[in-house]
Amino acid sequence: MAILITGGAGFIGSHFAELMHATTDEQLICLDNFNDYYDPRLKRANAETVAALDRVTVIEGDFCDESANSQLIEKHDIRRIVHLGAYAGVRYSVQNPAIYERSNVGGTLALLEAARKAPHSIDRVLVISSSTVYGCGADIPFCEDAPLGIPASPYGATKRAAELLGLTYHQLHGLPVACLRPFSVYGPRLRPDLALTIFADAIHNERPFPLFGDGSIRRDFTHVSDICSGLKSALYADNVAGETFNLGHSEPIEMRRIIEMLAEYLGKEPQIERRPERPEDLPITYADLSKAQRLLGYEPQVPITEGLREFCQWFTQWHAGIAGC
Ligand SMILES: NC(=O)c1ccc[n+]([C@@H]2O[C@H](COP(=O)([O-])OP(=O)(O)OC[C@H]3O[C@@H](n4cnc5c(N)ncnc54)[C@H](O)[C@@H]3O)[C@@H](O)[C@H]2O)c1
Repeated sequence: MAILITGGAGFIGSHFAELMHATTDEQLICLDNFNDYYDPRLKRANAETVAALDRVTVIEGDFCDESANSQLIEKHDIRRIVHLGAYAGVRYSVQNPAIYERSNVGGTLALLEAARKAPHSIDRVLVISSSTVYGCGADIPFCEDAPLGIPASPYGATKRAAELLGLTYHQLHGLPVACLRPFSVYGPRLRPDLALTIFADAIHNERPFPLFGDGSIRRDFTHVSDICSGLKSALYADNVAGETFNLGHSEPIEMRRIIEMLAEYLGKEPQIERRPERPEDLPITYADLSKAQRLLGYEPQVPITEGLREFCQWFTQWHAGIAGC
């Protein structure tokens, strides 16, 4: 028996594989197609880290291929699936919506179909969504059972579509699907396309960087270790099939404050270049955690000060390693 982690070479997927390896005896299959949305060498490095662990197998492949998914599920006797694989950037989706539709919607469907047709029972499928599904106009803090706004980006729309497919497969076929909505995840090995990495890189290298809007946008930054703990709970908890959960920190913080903290921890002055705000950026993300606390026992542990300090230490070491190559 094994657990399938799609996107297992990505930022969250590789951390999740490490957590599962450290805290369970499960066999873990990490599936990733190493696409070039961001530098695939970073994904290869993540894959090497997890492949070095016993009980972890990294497989290069595309979850949009339903028959390959079926073969994988049968061959490795997959019983639980953590579907983290996706095109995950908000801005890139505005110009490239079709690849988001293919991977995030078509790929999720191909995986759900393979799970539905599996020759053995599937104990849990986690569809990893995003706080972006709350869209514009949702009440604050974001609550899973309140009405959603319209997604501000094609990325958000594809994540909502993936959730709905998962919930439909639960209702129609009894597939034990639960949906998770992570909020602004950060930590070591963070994706290079995200604002935190872009800011840290520019501050560290004493270069100017763009800030869209006046920095008053607030994000509910959540450490990757807290997200992974929440995913693990959802993988095993009873009574969560058919449910959707926020995984956040519930303490939104302004981007200008984040920049101040990065500058302090990196020991350099930020050189901010103001740009107009962008319509795909929600003004605030803010997780109501009461449902995740109640049903998953989810309690985020890492304060932003501690997590950002650790992120800056990792970034500085990682950057020195790259520069030394
Ligand atoms: N990082 C965040 O702040 C955040 C917030 C909310 C939700 N999420 C969601 O969490 C998940 C993981 O995000 P991440 O930040 O680790 O992103 P990531 O890009 O680092 O990881 C996703 C991985 O999926 C792989 N992938 C994409 N399409 C694939 C396909 N068709 N077949 C096989 N592999 C494929 C990519 O190569 C990548 O390694 C995503 O579903 C994302 O939407 C992330």
